[in-house]
Amino acid sequence: MKVKAAWGITGAGHYLKETFDMVRNISRSGNVSVTTFLTRAGVEVVKAYGLWNALREISPGGYYQEIFTDGDQGASAFKAGRFFRGIYRFLLVSPATANTVAKIVHGIADTLVTNAVAEAQRGSVPIVILPTDLREGIVETTFPYSRNGDECIGQSNAMVQGERVRAKVRSLDVRNSELLQAMEGIIVIKHPSEIENVLRPFLTREMDKTAENTPSRIL
Ligand SMILES: Cc1cc2nc3c(=O)[nH]c(=O)nc-3n(C[C@H](O)[C@H](O)[C@H](O)COP(=O)(O)O)c2cc1C
Repeated sequence: MKVKAAWGITGAGHYLKETFDMVRNISRSGNVSVTTFLTRAGVEVVKAYGLWNALREISPGGYYQEIFTDGDQGASAFKAGRFFRGIYRFLLVSPATANTVAKIVHGIADTLVTNAVAEAQRGSVPIVILPTDLREGIVETTFPYSRNGDECIGQSNAMVQGERVRAKVRSLDVRNSELLQAMEGIIVIKHPSEIENVLRPFLTREMDKTAENTPSRIL
């Protein structure tokens, strides 16, 4: 039986491509199925960077390999209930916007990804988060030229070219990332290159929980 992994994508362009590379490697190991949960902004940004087809390779559909979005899940984020039922071995949220981090540290659950985090905490599912705004200073990142992701769906998975932009990280967002590090059950990482190492202990089949092997009737 494959290890069931959950991936939350928010509307962040920073570290998006690098995260895709890491999650793709994990999914290609053949031993892991990945369900992806996206915020509305996550959908837009993934499309704007031309990565939607790449996402379909990682989560091709079928049980526990679905792509769930705020748009199809509605306000109650029904599928987030899978987390307290012990379905998933871990939840990776990468990249996590400053907005999503602020919501998590203040206990707000009003998107599919923030609900996934809340339910994972309730279900004692390990959570790994890569915030985009970790340190004060200037970050340099690539901004896509087109905001209209639909134009990008048909393109090759090659990353959409964009312009390099520099942005100042707000101290408020850094403080929220620090609060996140202090939260129980949450591992904060600083760069996508850490993803494989930090997830490795959770990727072995031996760790299977009983609940994980229970077929879902409701969710
Ligand atoms: C192309 C693009 C890239 C963005 N990159 C980031 C980012 O790296 N970090 C961030 O905090 N917000 C970023 N944003 C802004 C978020 O998408 C926006 O705050 C959104 O409301 C976040 O919603 P979510 O947290 O529910 O995903 C970006 C927006 C666009 C259009």
